Amino acid sequence: MAQRRLVLITGASAGIGAEFARQYAERGWDVALTARRADRLEALADRLRSDYGTTAFVMAGDLAAPGAVEAIMAAVEATGRAVDGLVNNAGYGLPGTFFTTAWADQAAFLRVLYTAPIELTHKVLPGMAERGFGRIINVASLAGYTPGSAGHTLYASVKSGLIKFSESVHAEAQAGAARNVHCTALCPGFTWSEFHDVNGTRAQTQSMPAWLWMQAAPVVEAGIEACDRGQPVIVPGAVNKGLASLTRLLPEPVARHLIASQSRRFRNID
Ligand SMILES: NC(=O)c1ccc[n+]([C@@H]2O[C@H](COP(=O)([O-])OP(=O)(O)OC[C@H]3O[C@@H](n4cnc5c(N)ncnc54)[C@H](OP(=O)(O)O)[C@@H]3O)[C@@H](O)[C@H]2O)c1
Repeated sequence: MAQRRLVLITGASAGIGAEFARQYAERGWDVALTARRADRLEALADRLRSDYGTTAFVMAGDLAAPGAVEAIMAAVEATGRAVDGLVNNAGYGLPGTFFTTAWADQAAFLRVLYTAPIELTHKVLPGMAERGFGRIINVASLAGYTPGSAGHTLYASVKSGLIKFSESVHAEAQAGAARNVHCTALCPGFTWSEFHDVNGTRAQTQSMPAWLWMQAAPVVEAGIEACDRGQPVIVPGAVNKGLASLTRLLPEPVARHLIASQSRRFRNID
């Protein structure tokens, strides 16, 4: 019998990452789950085992810690399984402004949201190319598409970098001998999860219109399907697609003004 495929998912203890785990399990994949909260990961792994017969590995860790990526890869290696899919999803927004936050917090942010996804991708790609199959999804953001705004200042830069990185990895795979290795940047807009509790904007975002929000399930489905068909960037949902197009069609100063005025409504900028 053919070995089932294995997907490694970061930030699997909540929100979009937990939904990625559920949808890959439903599609017959096995999962390796990582995040800091081991209890949450164990509970999710148990649910996937009983609901879908999934083999689920839990490897808790803090992606901001030095050596975190090596530790995760060593834990995967110890399972004896190869990584067929990678979802770089772990992420958060730092509350406050770039002016007022400590460098240690910004440096940890860069490790979790930027260098760890890039390093994990670098570690799994050679095996994927050798086996002739790979699916990599980098969870970026609509914020990576639109002009930068005040607050969560590195967020848009990092997400924009992830989009470019994904496009380039995809192009490299297609240009070489790894055509069935696909890399996709998934760019969600406002999505129901714990994200806005963690970044301290739940009160402001609560008053935003419901049509701006998506559930995690259709966001994740769009990401998996785009990656399967080899699409390097996907903006999920009609509203988000419209917003992405609008900010590109508008003259740059107008787009910047629009983002600045809207972002003031839901960010803590004193
Ligand atoms: N929700 C939105 O509106 C939205 C929009 C666009 C893009 N996104 C992106 O979607 C991704 C998932 O976010 P979400 O909305 O699902 O938020 P969430 O519900 O808060 O989940 C974030 C996940 O990241 C993990 N994480 C945070 N810091 C970590 C660290 N230092 N080490 C390891 N894992 C860490 C958390 O696990 P632990 O706390 O257990 O470590 C959690 O599993 C993020 O990259 C985010 O930027 C979200």
